[in-house]
Amino acid sequence: MVKIDNIELPDFPLLLAPMEDVSDPPFRALCKEQGADVVYTEFVSSEGLIRNAAKSVMKLDIYEKERPVGIQIFGANLDSMLQTIDIVSASKPDIIDINFGCPVKKVVSKGAGAGILKDICLMEQLTAEMVKRTNIPVTVKTRLGWDHDSIKIVEVAERLQDVGCKAIAIHGRTRAQMYKGDADWKPIAEVKNNPRMHIPVFGNGDITSPEKAMEMRDSYGLDGAMIGRASIGNPWFFKQVKHFFKTGEHLAPITLEERVDAARRHLQMAIDWKGEILGVFETRRHYTNYFKGIPHFKEYRMKMVTSDDSKDVFAAFDEVLEKFAGHQFTE
Ligand SMILES: Cc1cc2nc3c(=O)[nH]c(=O)nc-3n(C[C@H](O)[C@H](O)[C@H](O)COP(=O)(O)O)c2cc1C
Repeated sequence: MVKIDNIELPDFPLLLAPMEDVSDPPFRALCKEQGADVVYTEFVSSEGLIRNAAKSVMKLDIYEKERPVGIQIFGANLDSMLQTIDIVSASKPDIIDINFGCPVKKVVSKGAGAGILKDICLMEQLTAEMVKRTNIPVTVKTRLGWDHDSIKIVEVAERLQDVGCKAIAIHGRTRAQMYKGDADWKPIAEVKNNPRMHIPVFGNGDITSPEKAMEMRDSYGLDGAMIGRASIGNPWFFKQVKHFFKTGEHLAPITLEERVDAARRHLQMAIDWKGEILGVFETRRHYTNYFKGIPHFKEYRMKMVTSDDSKDVFAAFDEVLEKFAGHQFTE
């Protein structure tokens, strides 16, 4: 069993990664139903939250059915981050995760996200103060280092643990790499193999298949896997990995009915959460992935992504069910 503070998780838990504009409540709910053991919100700006910016505040919406759920925050100013902890704690997440890994220029230039990898003392201090401020377990998501020449992740992880961080998720790339090259899991394994480490160490980056997840578990000995891009349009990825772990075989491809059901529920949950207009608009980007591989799908996709009325989108789903009944997906 793996524990994040008092949160008990199964062996080698699968975590849904925080992803901006992706990891919202409907998507998190679908991933949770399909086997994600922990889900995270997309990152929430501390500066936005303390100014009560509507967009940031909405990101704090969490639902009972998704627990355990982590709210991820980012920022570099101690005062703002402490106020943020108070605001976030009121939403009662199971975990508060600090983003020390975002490589985007506008975040890094303010010293936040991966920017903090240039100042490990500040990283340690921020974490220590945030841990002191709340009873909710604080965890960290970060990268290997700023660049190839400054990878000190073993030392960094130990220092974060020593100031009370309850788990660490490490993306096996440096900030300089952004998303280029392959994720390197070896330095993450070194963190795990440090005999002083006792908090869970989760690996992240390029888990694109059940085989890759198994490799992370068996060859790198990590405590669990955090999965991002492979779940986009494929919330079933979690159950596919778990099935593979259990049987050594791939789960049968997801059927058309399951895909339509997910698309329907995704849309309905989005409407329930943020209303008809935003719900219809913001769910559009998911359909292409749900129905990937169906030939001559354009006409239906166009209906789904151009209709402003949810009734028309739901009708398009019904049409798809009828028109493509029996279509065999290959994956
Ligand atoms: C669209 C998108 C949005 C992301 N947003 C966040 C974020 O808000 N916070 C964060 O820590 N990482 C974010 N990431 C990084 C992912 O959490 C993850 O570390 C990265 O994608 C590598 O994992 P993967 O190969 O499984 O996708 C984002 C990644 C993508 C693709």
